[in-house]
Amino acid sequence: MSSPVRPPALSTSLTTTPVHAASPAGAWWRDAVIYQVYPRSFADADGDGIGDLPGITARLDHLAELGVDAVWLSPFYRSPQRDAGYDVADYRDVDPLFGTLADADALLARAHSLGLRVIVDLVPNHTSSDHPWFRAALGAAPGSPERARYLFRDGRGPHGAEPPNNWTSVFGGPAWTRVTEADGTPGQWYLHLFDTSQPDLDWSNPEVRAELEDVLRFWLDRGVDGFRVDVAHGMVKAPGLPDWDGTTAMIDGGHDGTYGSEDGATGSGSAGPMWDQEGLHDIYRSWNRVLAEYDGDRALVAEAWVEPMSRLARYVRPGEMHQAFNFAFLTTLWSGPALRAVVTGSLEANDEVGAPTTWVLSNHDVVRHPSRLGLEVPGSRPNGIGTTDPQPDAELGLHRARAASLLMLALPGSAYVYQGEELGLPEHTTLPDEERQDPAWWRSGHTERGRDGCRVPLPWEADAPAYGFSPGGRSWLSQPDVFADHALDQQRGVPGSTYELYRTALHVRRERSLGTGSLAWVSGLRTTAGDVVGDDVLALVNRDLLVVTTVGGAEAVLPRGWEPVVTSGPTRASDEGGVLVPPDTTVWAVLRD
Ligand code: NOJ
Repeated sequence: MSSPVRPPALSTSLTTTPVHAASPAGAWWRDAVIYQVYPRSFADADGDGIGDLPGITARLDHLAELGVDAVWLSPFYRSPQRDAGYDVADYRDVDPLFGTLADADALLARAHSLGLRVIVDLVPNHTSSDHPWFRAALGAAPGSPERARYLFRDGRGPHGAEPPNNWTSVFGGPAWTRVTEADGTPGQWYLHLFDTSQPDLDWSNPEVRAELEDVLRFWLDRGVDGFRVDVAHGMVKAPGLPDWDGTTAMIDGGHDGTYGSEDGATGSGSAGPMWDQEGLHDIYRSWNRVLAEYDGDRALVAEAWVEPMSRLARYVRPGEMHQAFNFAFLTTLWSGPALRAVVTGSLEANDEVGAPTTWVLSNHDVVRHPSRLGLEVPGSRPNGIGTTDPQPDAELGLHRARAASLLMLALPGSAYVYQGEELGLPEHTTLPDEERQDPAWWRSGHTERGRDGCRVPLPWEADAPAYGFSPGGRSWLSQPDVFADHALDQQRGVPGSTYELYRTALHVRRERSLGTGSLAWVSGLRTTAGDVVGDDVLALVNRDLLVVTTVGGAEAVLPRGWEPVVTSGPTRASDEGGVLVPPDTTVWAVLRD
């Protein structure tokens, strides 16, 4: 659906390759910057060392001041917290750890009064094993309506002692657990693509569909602006649950940007009979109709690890979901050609269906990008980093992360910012293993450190107990000493700090409507020696802004007349007079007359 892009006149020696056309202002989610709040680690009001809803409400001003458009809250529902709330026991109530329904209403009201939209997490693939439905299923007989809400099957082999198929859990180990029947005998098996405490629902059961639609309405009635849909590519399984010899890993390392192409293979493990089944789309069409019953623009956001990009774009066709996380961008290595390929591929695939592209670098499931980018293979994506693993170069990683973030915020579409990213927070890579709570650590037999290192509570004030996270100084995961340097009060109002970089970038992004803007690649920039730059310099124009990112040791000189307005790191004048963009730096520049 691209139409010709007309970038500003650059210089006769530069050429542009249009990729994406600007669009008129539309629904808020088309160009929104959405800030992910991980409730247990954002701010703690009651002093128990675990963040809560009143803590979030009290700190919403920070997000308004930062300049984001919306907040996505990871789950805060009633849950035994076996997977940090992604194991829901009651979809219509707030876990006492986080507060009450009245606290959720107060949070929504405060956010809306600050002009912030609120998206909540919906976890439809599985419930908690503490959910009343699963308890009822355990107490009921094989073949009963109670069991039919989940995927209970008889085992294979003598006495059904073998699991019904060979699927493995994303967190490691088998994806099936055997139950004991009421008479004390070993019984059926139930499917759990994640932890044993997260039994998968059977989405071919109309009762399951009706219940989750009712849950959508429950939160829409309370005023939420949308839902981030957990495991959106997993709810429907292939008929007969056939064996599959692939693995359902928690996403392998970085890749080379070919996600955007039809034959791109990233090792994400998203192929297979448990993922990306056709029947999912009918569910999302139905949910789209539910949202359409409500006034204003409400959004469905897919957490779908699906490739290639054209396949992911099917989730955001008209009448289905509104956005899908761009994990291809997140998992791309720090390489010019790889980044160029993934940006082009993402925009082209989404333009085909008229959906905005999203961009994301960090979240609660991956190593924070300042740490990923400080690894020997920058941008590679280990599943956690521990004391005995090679440690990232913190300074270089942050330098590159600022460049990556500034590139991301220049791109047309919608961007996600994970809490603490605006402070340049690194992963906690020396978290003592005995503190780890992620089930992936246990289920992988301690081969994957898991996700605790990116979930450490935020530092607000360098000199306060728990860096201002909790009034009593408690913190459910210990915070590393380096968090003091990153605390908000050390960065607010400090020119050049990562916080001020994000704030400025978000302001300029809004002022220049970059989110609904255009993208054309620019070629022909020069090095200080006067040679044309290589593939490791990314240069693009979005509306009338020139964006240059230097990757992997490359540098570039801004074309004559262009002056920086935002820079991720120091720039200097080149000997020839133009502005030099040093390695691992992003510059936003405008043409001065
Ligand atoms: C994706 C969530 O982001 C992750 O944190 C969770 O463990 C799995 N889905 C299972 O719900």
